[in-house]
Amino acid sequence: MSEINIAVIGAGVIGKRHMQEIANSDRCRLAAIADPSPEADHEAATLGVALYKDYRKLLDTERLDAVIVCTPNSTHVDVGMACIDRGIPVLIEKPISDDLATALALAEAARAARVPVLVGHHRRHNPMVRAAKKVISEGRIGKLVVANIMCLVYKPDVYFAVPWRRRTGGGPILINMIHEIDLIRHLCGEIASVQAVSSSGTRGHEVEDSAACTLELENGTVANISLSDVAATPWSWDTAAGEDRELFDYRPVPTHFFAGTNGALSLPDRTLWSYDGEKGRHRPIHDERIPIEEENVYANQLRHFIDVVSGVAEPLIDAHDAAQTLAATLAVMEAARTGRKVHVSADNRFRTGEAIA
Ligand SMILES: NC(=O)c1ccc[n+]([C@@H]2O[C@H](COP(=O)([O-])OP(=O)(O)OC[C@H]3O[C@@H](n4cnc5c(N)ncnc54)[C@H](O)[C@@H]3O)[C@@H](O)[C@H]2O)c1
Repeated sequence: MSEINIAVIGAGVIGKRHMQEIANSDRCRLAAIADPSPEADHEAATLGVALYKDYRKLLDTERLDAVIVCTPNSTHVDVGMACIDRGIPVLIEKPISDDLATALALAEAARAARVPVLVGHHRRHNPMVRAAKKVISEGRIGKLVVANIMCLVYKPDVYFAVPWRRRTGGGPILINMIHEIDLIRHLCGEIASVQAVSSSGTRGHEVEDSAACTLELENGTVANISLSDVAATPWSWDTAAGEDRELFDYRPVPTHFFAGTNGALSLPDRTLWSYDGEKGRHRPIHDERIPIEEENVYANQLRHFIDVVSGVAEPLIDAHDAAQTLAATLAVMEAARTGRKVHVSADNRFRTGEAIA
């Protein structure tokens, strides 16, 4: 396929990032933008592309090979469905939806129409994640027993000037923790049940500002995630992994810890801990660094999307897979709301289980 025509729907923070990658690629071009906000006028004029206030008009007017959806969470399914209805392959930003039933409906519509859907869980395109998956799956740390993850950031007040980020469905569980849950599913295994607490006590918004959850995986691994968007720390993937150094400060401190029966791995510093011979806390434990070549994760994601659109690759994370990540993430919200353990079953449904004594 020659240069492919991509439209971006939603020209906010992440939409601009995708447009930057499209501009840097010689395999695609930005065909047009859809966004009803006045700020998008300036963006489109600067880039010299057509701007549509209504995304349906864009889809019905432009000759498009692909679309990237970067609108607020609650609109992802409507926009994604409009692309699928027209047979246009689509990259939908995460979360695929803010609701499981519509996410599953979209996954089914994509399957029935044979339209590829890639979901923007961009960490799966990170070489560091590929290296960690290899270390864990090859058994280099033995049987994985515990994962401990920190996602502790401070979002300035201006971030919350956008109303959808203050309302249910726009909070850090669905915006940030979902990345951690997808990473756990990808690196550690499927999630069987969830217990959680959340608090909105610091900011006082409708959405939570902090949460903690414990996940039990089908393979018996236990995973903990600590989350806050009102915590002034460097302990988050955004700051430590350096995926977007224009948007976030870069401090490569360890934030993700994977503990196995024979050793341990921390990310993003990629330190692998292991014993020589006999293991035990009385014995010296050694560290080594897993080497990788740094790569632009968003460029990798775009290249992969172009391969998907061109029919030479299957989506690394499709709508059905992303719905499973969403199911586990919504289960965290449900567990925090009810104070009960929530079971996540393989068919993407979750149910509230027994009360925690
Ligand atoms: N993968 C990542 O790391 C990552 C990072 C940031 C955001 N996101 C996701 O991207 C989405 C957008 O987040 P953001 O931070 O860029 O938000 P944002 O508020 O900065 O941008 C959203 C844009 O969508 C526009 N919009 C709203 N309704 C629209 C519609 N019906 N048609 C067209 N445009 C519409 C808004 O005017 C705005 O410009 C969210 O779902 C978020 O979870 C993903």
